[in-house]
Parts: sequence; C-alpha cells; structure tokens
Amino acid sequence: MNTEQFRSAGYQAIDRICEYHDTLRDRPVSSQVEPGYLRKLLPSSAPIEGEDFQLIADDYQKYIIPGLTHWQHPSFYAYFPTSSTFEGILAELYASSTSNPGFNWAASPACTELEAVVMDWTAQLLGLDKAFYNISEVGGGVIQTSASDSVLVSTVAARSRYIREHPDVAMEKLVIYTTTQTHSLGKKSGLVLGLTVRALDVTAQDNFALRGDTLKVALEEDIKAGLHPFILIGTVGTTSSGAVDRLDEIADVAKHYPSLWLHVDAAWAGVAFACPEYREAYQLPAINEYVDSFCTNFHKWGLIHFDGSCLWVRHRQHLIDALDITPEFLRAKNGNAATAIDYRNWHVGLGRRFRSLKFWFGLRARGVKGIQKYITDCIKLNNKFSQSIYESELFSVVTKPSLAITVFRLAPKSLPHLRTPELNTLNRAFYARLAARNDIAITQTDLNGVFCIRMVIGSEKTLESDVEHALELMKDEAMISLKNWEVIGNGRGRKTSVILSQTH
Ligand SMILES: Cc1ncc(COP(=O)(O)O)c(C=O)c1O
Repeated sequence: MNTEQFRSAGYQAIDRICEYHDTLRDRPVSSQVEPGYLRKLLPSSAPIEGEDFQLIADDYQKYIIPGLTHWQHPSFYAYFPTSSTFEGILAELYASSTSNPGFNWAASPACTELEAVVMDWTAQLLGLDKAFYNISEVGGGVIQTSASDSVLVSTVAARSRYIREHPDVAMEKLVIYTTTQTHSLGKKSGLVLGLTVRALDVTAQDNFALRGDTLKVALEEDIKAGLHPFILIGTVGTTSSGAVDRLDEIADVAKHYPSLWLHVDAAWAGVAFACPEYREAYQLPAINEYVDSFCTNFHKWGLIHFDGSCLWVRHRQHLIDALDITPEFLRAKNGNAATAIDYRNWHVGLGRRFRSLKFWFGLRARGVKGIQKYITDCIKLNNKFSQSIYESELFSVVTKPSLAITVFRLAPKSLPHLRTPELNTLNRAFYARLAARNDIAITQTDLNGVFCIRMVIGSEKTLESDVEHALELMKDEAMISLKNWEVIGNGRGRKTSVILSQTH
C-alpha cells in the first residue's frame, strides 16, 4: 500500500468506524456466532501473494464484526465497562503510525516524557498524594497493560524489598494475602511467582469488605506458624459487588508490620476518585497515607480504551531494585535519571506501547469536568436502577449497591420462605434466560454461596430509558422463570401457579 492508497483506505476506515458507532444501538449486544465460526470461514494459511486491501477491509466487516460483543452498546451491563472515545481511537492511530517500542528515554524521549506527565495528570485528577507523582522523583506512575500486570509487578517489588530486609527467609515461607473477594489476579500472581496465597475471609454483614481484625488475626497466626506474609492486595471496588476493603482499619494494623507491602487494586472503582465526593467513602485518605502501590484501570471506567492500567508506587526504587537488568546495549546516558525514567524497569516486558498518547488526547478533550460528568451520570443511573430493585416485589439487592454496580437476585417478596439453595436454583434459571438474550449483556456472580446478578452501568450511550427497558425485560424474564419453575423445591412441592398468584 502506498501513501495514496493508505489515504483512501483510511478515509473509508473512518467512515466505517463512524457507521459502526452510529448503528450500535440497533445491533445485538452479544455476538451470535458459535465457537469455531471463524476457522470455518477463513483459509487455513496466509495467502502466498499479497491481497488487495479492499478485499481485506470488506472481510473485516463480513467476518469479524459479527463475532464481536459490543462493549460500548447502550445495553451492555456486563463485567465492567471498557469505555472509549473517538479521540482515543485517533491517538491509537497516531501511536501506531510511529511503531515505537519506547522502552527507555533514548528509545523515544516523547514516549517516556509524555507518560511521566500524564501519570501526574491522572494522579492529580484522582486526588492522589504528591508522593505518588513522577515529579516527586521518589514515587511515580506508570502505564501497565492490565491490573494483573500491575499486581504482579507490585508483588515482585514487595518480595524483593522483603527479602532484602529478611535475607534468611526461604521463598516457600512467603505468603501473599488477598481476600475471598479479590480478583483472580491475586491467585495468578502467586501462581506466576510460585508463592503461597492466603485468601482472608470477608462476610456479607461487612458488605464483603476486609476488616482490620481479620488481618490482625491472620498475621498473628501466620507469623506464629513461621510464615512471612509480605504483601496484602486490598481492593476498592471488588469485581463481584464493588466492595471496599476497610483500608483505614487495615492501615492501623499494618503499621505494626512495616515490612508488609500494601497494594490497592481499584481496577474499576478507582477512577471515581475523580469526583471528590467519593474519596472519603472509598478510602482515598488511607490510600494516600499508607499504601505502597495503587492501581486503577482507566480502560475500564476512565474513558480510555483498552489498554491503560495505571500503577502508582510510593517508592520507585523498589521497582527498579526488583526489575532492573541493564545489559551494555541498553545503557543510556540518562538511564534511571529521576526526570528521564527508564520505564523498562517498571514493568515485566522491555518494549512498551505508546499508551500515554491516548491519555493525553482523552484527558485534554474531556477535561476534568467531562470525566466527572461521565462518572456521575453512570452513578445516577445506577442509583435509579437500585432504587427500583429496592422497591420491587420481585427482586432484592444482595449487598449494598456501590457506585455504578447493583448486585441483586430474584427473590419474590411473596415467597419469604424460600431459602438460599432454592433461590439459587431459581436465579440460575432466571440468569440463563437473561444470558440467552441478545438485546442485553449482563453477568452473574456468587457472593459467599448466593448466586446473584450484577448490573453495571458504564456505557456513555446508556440512557435512563435503556435502564428502564432493562428492568422491564428483567421483570418479564423473572415472571417466565417463575412460571417455568415447576416445583418450588422447598420440600413442600408447591406448584408455580401458587408462586405466580402470590407475586401478582
Ligand atoms: C477489581 C478488579 N481487579 C482486577 C481486574 C482485572 O483487570 P485486568 O484485566 O486489567 O487484569 C478486574 C476485572 O474486571 C477487576 O474487577
């Protein structure tokens, strides 16, 4: 392709992308294809001769778009959102136009310097303490691929600090602390590093938040048993229910264990700190005062499309001590200088994508106010939704709604005798009906044995009428689920007709 051909293919691509976004609402949310659909459609090897680009572009429309789930769709309420903007798409286009692995300052000074600047912008946006700013030259921020990478890197730094402070401790005695509600990233970092993971219990009464006392007891038990807990992965906004660990209590305990590294995974909820009114309740003061590392994914709720996981550390030197390997060919005049960060020592890979560009474009285009408005709009819609669940005769919330997530289940008020196992069966059937629909995407979860449905609002295209429509559709599916449920299953053998007459 020459530049003229690129120009015309580029115009067409932009037109098609616009058409895709303009017609999102009319598309099914989830893809309708069966596993293996694509292999049947594509040749088994790459073409020997190069092909005409128009053919390739048309095949993208024909074969790939039908296999996509539309995360920006107004009726996408599953997982957590992955917001994006047109400015971000353009930033990705510019970034890829220079194909640049920017692993150190000299590899492309603008890549490193822009990342250092936008990480300070985002730290300010969230109200993080200045200790985390790159400009502090002590702490600093870096863009990682995912929250899992952020946790892995933090755990490596924590382990290296611990081993330096306790050189005689054997690796098999080290323990990573998570909770039973921590994202699987905790277990995965244990798996990757060959370390033991202990998941501390959290309860429904505490809204699934880790309490200081639980941590204290675990630390005492493990230390007595000759083990060495060296990192706690706390969460602000758990995946299942948006729970917030009590970092204030945790910090009170942890300050008696100065070698315990505190990492906070706020992959989804952390961006809500952009709105000052959520900082106190979601534990920002404790984060600012105590934690060693903090992560939030702007690619979830921060209007930056995947990937853009932001990790801040209080002491960059711990990352560098753990990850710096500098062969002669990577020695550069400004390597590891405070102002010319060698970001290759802050993550696992060497090369890195030029991700800061989409942050720069995105933050400038929306401004602080634009991001705050997007977040508060999502929360307002969720408040309306959760209020309807509280008032509903059919549904009930399972745990306190958090920011833009409501976790609920079908639990007709007219059937108060139904116990968890029966409700779980009923809700599995209800969820199966919702999951089979292509006009809504929503996910399920399990909270300490309670099967429930998670509703997360995050698409910028979602309107109040979409949420109302989702609720109506859930009510219809709930009634059908109750109708189809032949026997209540509580040992009394009552027929669903009884249930239905009671729910009307
Ligand atoms: C609280 C939390 N942490 C971590 C993750 C994983 O994020 P990533 O895919 O960036 O590793 C998720 C994903 O939804 C999450 O909800």
